[in-house]
Order: sequence, then structure tokens, then C-alpha cells
Amino acid sequence: EKGVYFSPEANAYVVSRYADVSQVLRDSRTYSSSITTGAPKPPPDSEMAKYIPFLLLSDDPDHARRRSIVNRAFVPAKLAAWEPLVRSLCTQIVDGLSGSEVVEFIDAFAVPLPITVITHVLGVPPADAGRFRSWSDQLAASIGAHNVDPGEVLRIAKEFAAYLGPLLDEARNREQNDILAIIAAAEAAGELPRHDAARFVMELLIAGNITTTHHLSSTLLMLARNPELADRYRGDPDTIPKLVEESLRLEAPIQGFFRLATADGEVGGVKIPAGSRVMVLYGSANRDGATFDDPDTLRPERANVTTHLAFGRGIHACLGAPLARMESRIALETLLSRTTSIELAEPADNVEYLPSFVNRGLRALP
Ligand code: HEM
Repeated sequence: EKGVYFSPEANAYVVSRYADVSQVLRDSRTYSSSITTGAPKPPPDSEMAKYIPFLLLSDDPDHARRRSIVNRAFVPAKLAAWEPLVRSLCTQIVDGLSGSEVVEFIDAFAVPLPITVITHVLGVPPADAGRFRSWSDQLAASIGAHNVDPGEVLRIAKEFAAYLGPLLDEARNREQNDILAIIAAAEAAGELPRHDAARFVMELLIAGNITTTHHLSSTLLMLARNPELADRYRGDPDTIPKLVEESLRLEAPIQGFFRLATADGEVGGVKIPAGSRVMVLYGSANRDGATFDDPDTLRPERANVTTHLAFGRGIHACLGAPLARMESRIALETLLSRTTSIELAEPADNVEYLPSFVNRGLRALP
């Protein structure tokens, strides 16, 4: 019943209500992001410190400066320009599946779509897609897993940074239509050292791919479990964005992240001493009955459907949210327009989630 409590397992004050989660996320001065993913921050003079996520683990003033540079790659005009590409990639994937009776949706669609999209919007040569994907998988696996060998992560990060170097050099001469070209221009202007440019690209892979995969598969499961809903959106695709939001609310792909208290504070009536770890539960906040009526029910038409915290809030709110929303909308438009019904190949109760208290994602979806 308590909205804020100390959990010895997480070694953190756990914050679960909507208003309290919002308070912590907005107060980035008191609640530092230096431990967002839960792992301790490597010492600043260590080699690993050069490869940790560029935005996610930084605080102001560094964060504000960094974000103002990379925001240029995610402005609405860029997003609009990428939409036809996303549509054609969705169509290509579905074309490849047509005729199959049973497909495993995650392998067949939810994994390849975000990776292929990011390869294109970054401006990575198509011939490198396979290698790129394997780095992306390895880097993503290094976050939130418990049995990670730091030496191995460092090796992969270095290999990836070495691969990216020549691509950034080349991108300097291109028009700024892709993310690498935009970052290379910031680098040329002296705003962004090379190793920061590389770790920003790594961060996009770590933050953007697995989250979108989990969101797409959770949403497809909802449609398979609610055929009348699938029919409704098939008939009225303009309302798909609301379904996307309600899916993010109910099945937040990131259930919770951490903050480090830099000063004594109080949240939900509980005192939190300086130096404490704090875990903010986006997923729980999204099911707070004080904010969302009938919180456990799928109701895409609810008036406050967009106010969920699945993309966080405050200075660290998801940089890629507009891209993720666009990918999801177009994926659903494509899947619904190209099918007459979507059914689970296995009994509905058989679905299994990955064992993680950070990521909410299905293991498989046949
Ligand atoms: C930050 C969720 C897709 C890039 C975040 C945060 C959340 C989140 C909750 C805030 C972390 C915090 O409070 O510390 C999601 C979900 C996604 C998604 C649910 C898909 C459905 C993407 C995509 C990209 C991306 C597609 C990029 C291609 C980032 C980056 C940050 C971030 C760079 C760090 C922002 C900062 O610290 O200023 N995301 N994300 N995300 N996300 Fe996403």
C-alpha cells in the first residue's frame, strides 16, 4: 500500500505512484542520473568511462549541452522525412512473410524493424547491416543483464567505436540528412569530441532497439487477444496513435530506472537521505488509479492516454520517442492493413516474459 518504500533487494527507495515518480524525474538536481541503469558508474579516469551512455547517465550542465547538440537529429522535419522509409521497410518485412501461416513475430518483425530503421536513419552503409546488428545486439545485451563481463563490454564498445570512426569522417562531406552527418557536423564545429560522437551512436542502439522491439510485440499481443479491437483499428487507422499510447501505458517497455539522491529529500511523505539509490517505476506509475481511471483496463480512448510515463519525464525524457511512436504507428497500420485477422498460434496463457525487472518484453510471440 505504501507508494514509497525501501527495498533491500533493490537496495533502493522504490517510488511507485504517478505523482511521486513525476516529482523525482522532474527534480534532476536532487536525483542524479549517474546510476540510471542500476550499474555503478565507472570511475571517471577508467577506460570504461569513455564508453558509457552519453545522455542517460549524465547530469546538468553536461546533459543540457549534450542534448542541445543531438536534439538536432530528432527535430520534426527530420522525422517527417524518414516516414516514407519506415513505411517501405515495414512493407518489405511483411512482403517477406506473406504466405506463411505461422510466424514468430519477434524474430520476423519486432527485432528487424527498429534495427533496420536505425541503420538507415544513421546513414550506415546497407552492406554493413549484419555486422551492425550484431554489435547492436551485443551492446543492448550488456545493459540490464546481471552476468555481464565488463572486459567483454569494453572490447565490443572499442570495436564499435573503431568501426564508426571512418564512417564519421565520410559523413562530414554529406548533406545533413542522416544522424551520422549531423553528428559529424557538430564534431567538425568543435562541439563534440570523436569519442562522444561514438558513444552517442552506441547509446541510440542500446536505448532504442530493444525498447521498440518489446513495445511492438506487447502491442501485437494485445491485438491478438482482442480481435474486435484489431477490427476496429483496421477500419479506422487514423486512431492507431491512441492504441500506441495505451499500449505504452499498460506495457511500459522500461518498467523502472534508478536515480542517486544527491541531497536529503522527501517523496510521498518518506524521507530519502542523501546518497540513497532511488528506483522510479514508470510501469507502476502508469497504472496508478489516482491518475488513470480503471488503470488495468485497455481503454485507448481515455482522455489522458498520452500522459503516461513510459518515455520518462523531465530532462531525460526519451530522445527517440517521436521516432518510436512513428515506427509503431506505421508498423500497426501496415500489419493491420495486410491481415484479415491476427491470432496466437499457442494458447493465450502460454506467453512468457523475459526475466528482468527493468525490461518488460516477451520471449517469443508465435
Ligand atoms: C531515454 C523509453 C525508444 C533513445 C528514455 C527514457 C525512457 C525511454 C523511459 C528515460 C530514461 C530516464 O528517465 O532516465 C523508451 C521506450 C522506447 C524508446 C519505451 C520505445 C517504445 C527509443 C528510441 C531511441 C531512444 C527509438 C533512439 C533511436 C533514447 C535516448 C535516451 C532515452 C538517447 C536518453 C535521453 C536523455 O537522457 O536525455 N527512453 N525509449 N529511445 N531514449 Fe528512449
